[in-house]
Amino acid sequence: MLSLGIVTVSDRAATGVYVDQSGPAIRDVFTRWLGEPFTEAYRLVPDEQPLIEAALRELADEVRCHIIVTTGGTGPAPRDVTPEATVAVCDRLLPGFGEQMRAESLKSVATAILSRQTAGTRGGALIINLPGKPAAIEECLRAVWGAMPYCVELIGGPRFTSSSAAPRPYRPA
Ligand code: MTE
Repeated sequence: MLSLGIVTVSDRAATGVYVDQSGPAIRDVFTRWLGEPFTEAYRLVPDEQPLIEAALRELADEVRCHIIVTTGGTGPAPRDVTPEATVAVCDRLLPGFGEQMRAESLKSVATAILSRQTAGTRGGALIINLPGKPAAIEECLRAVWGAMPYCVELIGGPRFTSSSAAPRPYRPA
């Protein structure tokens, strides 16, 4: 069964100033787009690089998530450090994910260029950064979903199916 990790990175959500909407939006997309049941682990951390790295390591190495999606902390503000934490824990980077998500997002939001979102793998986990805006979640996942099932297979994860609501996954013949 696919194991999903969700990491919301937000000072304000972590201190209770507001309720996290982006983490639940990730869960909602996977619920609609996966063609099968999945397990989920959720972590909410402030914009502190060591805490983000610890959450990513725990979800990849101990919980053994196959996909870990982060939201928030990808912009140019001084406390935005999610891409740095992602690069620090990954053994391989997949820069195409960030490029594709920005390219698609730029069609609707000029400020999409401000996101430094990236992706990579740590062992058997595919880690993908999303911006913190709830509206960005589905838009960004839609841009890369087609490559995600094959990527998870290539790093040793399960072959998972997509629902009819999901963007069509691509598998080379
Ligand atoms: N991408 C999409 N699809 N939709 C958005 O609303 N917001 C942008 C950008 N990417 C946005 C988006 C904005 S305004 C910023 S500042 C950056 O993501 C970084 O956001 P973050 O720091 O919350 O990760």
